[in-house]
Amino acid sequence: MKQSNGYSRAQIVLHWGVVLLLIASYVSHEAMKDSWRALRRGTEASGLGTAVHVWVGVTILVLSLARLALRARYGAPALPEGGNPILDLVAKLTHVALYALIVLIPASGIAAWFGGLSAAGDAHELMFNLLVAVAGLHVAGALYHQFVLRDGLMDRMRKPG
Ligand code: HEM
Ligand code: HEM
Repeated sequence: MKQSNGYSRAQIVLHWGVVLLLIASYVSHEAMKDSWRALRRGTEASGLGTAVHVWVGVTILVLSLARLALRARYGAPALPEGGNPILDLVAKLTHVALYALIVLIPASGIAAWFGGLSAAGDAHELMFNLLVAVAGLHVAGALYHQFVLRDGLMDRMRKPG
């Protein structure tokens, strides 16, 4: 993996932008579920909440692919030195899982909604639950660095390096 001195402004803006959009996806999920049930019964399925869910999700997919392209091109900073090797591995695997989920969740939603694939809808729900668990671990890690280790790791996602 390429190493940089810090995350770029674009990487930081995209990290926090995607976090906000994920919240919007969650807020609109009940409307989406109603429309999905209606569609499968063969009745009218639409509404503002549904449109928000679909287009916010499509935006997340595009931005996530842009993040992966930026990471491949510019890399990411190395983890702080002297950390526990097991926790460092957990952090790396967590990042890989988060990147995979923010691509696969909207992709499965698109396959369900536009392709009518029920199995993709089931996978969408399952992967969202996985995202909540992995993101919880990620946030716990960030808080551990901020308040226990106090090593300034959080600043890497605040100030471009
Ligand atoms: C990262 C972006 C997205 C997130 C976080 C997200 C999240 C969710 C959540 C939490 C549910 C409710 C699951 C349940 O409890 O049943 C849901 C349902 C659904 N979403 Fe998304 N979604 C995203 C993107 C999309 C996109 C782009 C589409 C389609 C274009 C989509 C289509 C659907 C459909 C069809 C359902 C109903 C599936 C079912 O309940 O089995 N989603 N989504
Ligand atoms: C309040 C919530 C969050 C906080 C405080 C936070 C904080 C951070 C910090 C400090 C880093 C840099 C880690 C490092 O330098 O090694 C980071 C990286 C990352 N975060 Fe978050 N994050 C949050 C939510 C999320 C969410 C919801 C996602 C899900 C998509 C996410 C995805 C990522 C990814 C994929 C990376 C790795 C970036 C890379 O190395 O290319 N974060 N986060």
